[in-house]
Amino acid sequence: MCGIVGYIGVEQAGPFLLDSLEKLEYRGYDSSGVCLNTGSELVVKKAKGKLEVLKQMTDSGKSLNGTVGIGHTRWATHGEPSDVNAHPHLSESGRFAVVHNGIIENYQELKDYLTSKGIVFRSETDTEVIAQLIEYYYKGDMIDTIIRVLGKLDGSYALGVITIESPDEIIAVRKESPLIIGLGNNENYIASDVTAILSKTKKICRLENNEIAILKKDSVRIVNLDREEIHKEAEIVSWDISSAQKGGYEHFMFKEIMEQPKAISETITPRIKNGRVVLDEISLSDDDIKKFNKINVLACGSAYHVGVVAKYIFEKMLRIPVEADLASEFRYRDPIVNDKTLTIVISQSGETADTKEAMKEARRRGSHIISIVNVVGSAIAVESNDVIYTWAGPEIAVATTKAYSTQLSVIYLIALYFGEKLGRIPAAEYKALVNELEQLPRKITQVLECKERVQYLASKYFNSKDIFFIGRNIDYALSLEGSLKLKEISYIHSEAYAAGELKHGTISLIEDGTPVIALATHEELIPKMVSNIEEVNTRGAQVICIACDDHPELKKLGETIFIPKVCDMLLPSLAVIPLQLFAYYIASLKGCDIDKPRNLAKSVTVE
Ligand code: G6P
Repeated sequence: MCGIVGYIGVEQAGPFLLDSLEKLEYRGYDSSGVCLNTGSELVVKKAKGKLEVLKQMTDSGKSLNGTVGIGHTRWATHGEPSDVNAHPHLSESGRFAVVHNGIIENYQELKDYLTSKGIVFRSETDTEVIAQLIEYYYKGDMIDTIIRVLGKLDGSYALGVITIESPDEIIAVRKESPLIIGLGNNENYIASDVTAILSKTKKICRLENNEIAILKKDSVRIVNLDREEIHKEAEIVSWDISSAQKGGYEHFMFKEIMEQPKAISETITPRIKNGRVVLDEISLSDDDIKKFNKINVLACGSAYHVGVVAKYIFEKMLRIPVEADLASEFRYRDPIVNDKTLTIVISQSGETADTKEAMKEARRRGSHIISIVNVVGSAIAVESNDVIYTWAGPEIAVATTKAYSTQLSVIYLIALYFGEKLGRIPAAEYKALVNELEQLPRKITQVLECKERVQYLASKYFNSKDIFFIGRNIDYALSLEGSLKLKEISYIHSEAYAAGELKHGTISLIEDGTPVIALATHEELIPKMVSNIEEVNTRGAQVICIACDDHPELKKLGETIFIPKVCDMLLPSLAVIPLQLFAYYIASLKGCDIDKPRNLAKSVTVE
């Protein structure tokens, strides 16, 4: 959702701001805007709709004047998407400008107060309250003013502030919403997301809650709410600029699908040493691990689907009961969680509001939290007891692929690590599993070769009204992901069903020609799946079956896509590839905006 950028330096700020807003588009937005400090006034340009509108309005930033500026992509929460509600917001006199990510919960109360003092508001946003408060309390010192204003705000925020009162600085502050400072040569930056500034610098500082940064072109000072100076070591971001560019691919999603072998290899290789899984990130002793009698997995969206796969794997291998929970549901159901419950939190962004709050709830109840996160230093990573990073690199397409796959590979690592500690996996089996896990990137490369076949199948079905996915066991968990991927980016109605449930009602939805994707990767479940496929076939379904090797019985029942045989645990990593490609090609044939599907945001930072 919303994105923030800011520039202070010797160059004109406009082109950089527009360029970096483009890098933040993937987060999801419905309006955008910039504000430049000319030295004598603050000039705001903002517009509802695609960034293209703002680009045309400003000649890609070139028509703007000023070496200090802030920019924003907004996802509407308070007030509809409109020109006036877009950020930046100015104070009444136009002397202060603010961009904001997050939500000010007590904004109405503050607005009523300021209105009673005669201040006139222009927008319906919560953010404008901040700009007006700054002006209301300003007595000549920006840091004092910001500290005073922060004392009035309830909620979450990352803020970028500029003012004609001190035209050579940007003030940045955060609470709960992420904000980083980029350090350049005679120029400095702020951004909500490192991808926005990767083209300029890899040297960054992360702001912590309630830290205030004062950026000038050649210095960055950070103070706390008591005005004490804070010294921070700069860190060098490992992500490369090329990973945030399309690199010749038509879409980020396709590039990210193709990057999966590398991403998985980078996630698992450093954690396998001499044939053993070593998770130095986990602070639990062997005795701690033995005391858990339940595992909770909390996540949203595709990350939740990884949790559903994890349930099957952990229960089978560890013999510990597992609940995979949608974070938004977990929070409000008075869950039974205590210090004997291990909680695994999964999130690509590490920012998803419901996941973060669910994690806090579990922690409050005494549970140990292991998070699986892609964005280093994100809120969930920082606030969990242990974090295992997925080294997927930046994921730009809204529909996740490589993050999902790397999350799955961390689940395998945890299963093996715990399995060994608990003595639940015989030595020979453990050795074979680790060996197969090491081969996984190569097997995925092999499966990616099915892309032409999947493209052909997509061309047969892209005009369908509904597409169903069925499977049993882990294949059911995968069906959920296949179906979500398809609806997210192609806008085709789709459902995933446990194949055994079909007869209990949902089979009535099958009509002549309805495509059904049947996952049948588990040998022992094939006879049951064959019956289910026959049931839909006789009602007119067109079946595409995803299975292992060249299975003759399944070939007779419809179209097939075969993946190589691997151990059961690793099957989801292979079977998900044709599902991702199927969704991609269907969306491409339908001419959809694949990387930025309508109404969706990459990071869902509101509940
Ligand atoms: C959004 C994204 C999904 C993602 C979900 C959870 O809906 O489009 O791809 O699975 O959020 O995000 P997280 O960052 O917590 O993994």
